[in-house]
Amino acid sequence: MSSSKKVIVITGASQGLGAGMVKAFRDLDYKVVATSRSIKPSTDADILTVAGDIGDPAVAQRVIREAIERFGRIDTLVNNAGIFVAKPFTAYTQEDYAAVLSVNLNGFFYITQLAITEMEKQGSGHVVNITTSLVDHAIDGVPSVLASLTKGGLNAATKSLAIEYAKRGIRVNAVSPGIIKTPMHGEETHEALGNLHPVGHMGEISDIAQAVVYLDSANFVTGEILHVDGGQSAGH
Ligand SMILES: NC(=O)c1ccc[n+]([C@@H]2O[C@H](COP(=O)([O-])OP(=O)(O)OC[C@H]3O[C@@H](n4cnc5c(N)ncnc54)[C@H](OP(=O)(O)O)[C@@H]3O)[C@@H](O)[C@H]2O)c1
Repeated sequence: MSSSKKVIVITGASQGLGAGMVKAFRDLDYKVVATSRSIKPSTDADILTVAGDIGDPAVAQRVIREAIERFGRIDTLVNNAGIFVAKPFTAYTQEDYAAVLSVNLNGFFYITQLAITEMEKQGSGHVVNITTSLVDHAIDGVPSVLASLTKGGLNAATKSLAIEYAKRGIRVNAVSPGIIKTPMHGEETHEALGNLHPVGHMGEISDIAQAVVYLDSANFVTGEILHVDGGQSAGH
């Protein structure tokens, strides 16, 4: 298989931010490996879809194996799959806790190990983790400790891996969104959610896709948590 174009793996790619990134990177002529539980085959020969639960290590193995079989290399991995369960701390069930850790942490861990193994063979690569500015800026009235627990871990792991792999040609960054107009948030909530940002409105999917595109081209940037959050992390 030809390996002339860059190859990007995007998790959580069936809708929302992930689907926006698939489009943004196809527009840049990347070959894309798109994965999520419900993702359907694509008619575009440069998009490989792999369906499965990203918290399952066997699915992570299948995604990376099929990516290499089809496209021969992995230049970039975007760990975008994530779930958000906002509840008062004591209302979280064991099932909530297990589900959020499975997607947000296991879904990062297994596939990132396998992708970085391929990147090491190539001597280059880039990992981007999608986190949340709730980590830096908890919001009164939006109790969501499981988002902070898991995405805060990803922010910390971003810096740790950036340093571990800095001399091996592999960069690791994060994009920390504010609240973005995706299927995660119904239309009826947009005005109230917009008011939770200093700029007074929610972000667009393209705001996050552009940030990931920027990081992928920014060869001197690693260990960065790029806040794309309408000022949330700066203050309120
Ligand atoms: N939207 C926001 O305001 C916002 C703010 C901060 C951070 N984020 C983060 O940005 C990322 C994307 O959010 P979004 O708003 O685009 O969410 P979304 O519209 O709910 O999409 C989530 C994606 O993740 C996939 N997914 C969920 N559970 C999965 C599992 N067990 N295995 C594999 N894939 C799974 C879903 O596909 P399937 O259902 O097909 O599996 C879907 O493609 C998440 O990590 C989220 O935490 C979003």
